Amino acid sequence: MMKVKDKEFTPFISAEELDERINCIAKDISKDYRGRNPLVLGVLNGAFMFVSDLMKKVDIPLQMSFIKISSYQAMNSTGKVRELIGVSEEIKGREVIVVEDIVDTGVSMTHLLETISEKGPASISVVSLLFKPAALKKPVMLDYVGFEIPDKFVVGYGLDYDGFGRNLKEIYQLK
Ligand code: IMP
Ligand code: MG
Repeated sequence: MMKVKDKEFTPFISAEELDERINCIAKDISKDYRGRNPLVLGVLNGAFMFVSDLMKKVDIPLQMSFIKISSYQAMNSTGKVRELIGVSEEIKGREVIVVEDIVDTGVSMTHLLETISEKGPASISVVSLLFKPAALKKPVMLDYVGFEIPDKFVVGYGLDYDGFGRNLKEIYQLK
């Protein structure tokens, strides 16, 4: 049992399971992007831990940057996406890899992909650690997915409940 703010959570995905799955994704990305020098865009805040662990295991030359968007308030998607820090790098002609913590309704990812596409990248692929297929409202193509999970609120490993729980090294599910 884990208490985060005023709610109780139960263990869901262990640090070992995360590590193993991230190893696999890193191998796939390294193989798919060999010789291509991609630009990795991590989506703040939620993806910070995942991007960090994933990119330590990707063994090809790449560049990294971060974008910051916000759509959630406490436990609900507001349906509106605010861009808090935009993309400062040159996107035109680049092979972009977007790294997210979770795709829930797909609203954030759809908005982000539109924003990035407008800047003329050579290609875009999407990595998401978690994916809740049952919550999807906008169709999103995901190239690399860590875990498909049920439509239940989760925290830990970068994901928060009202700002708390991001530092937990495993993922917990609302009880
Ligand atoms: P979407 O726009 O509904 O797909 O939501 C995407 C964003 O909402 C993610 O990047 C997360 O930051 C946040 N989010 C969605 N589901 C959860 C959850 O279960 N726990 C914590 N944050 C979540
Ligand atoms: Mg996020």
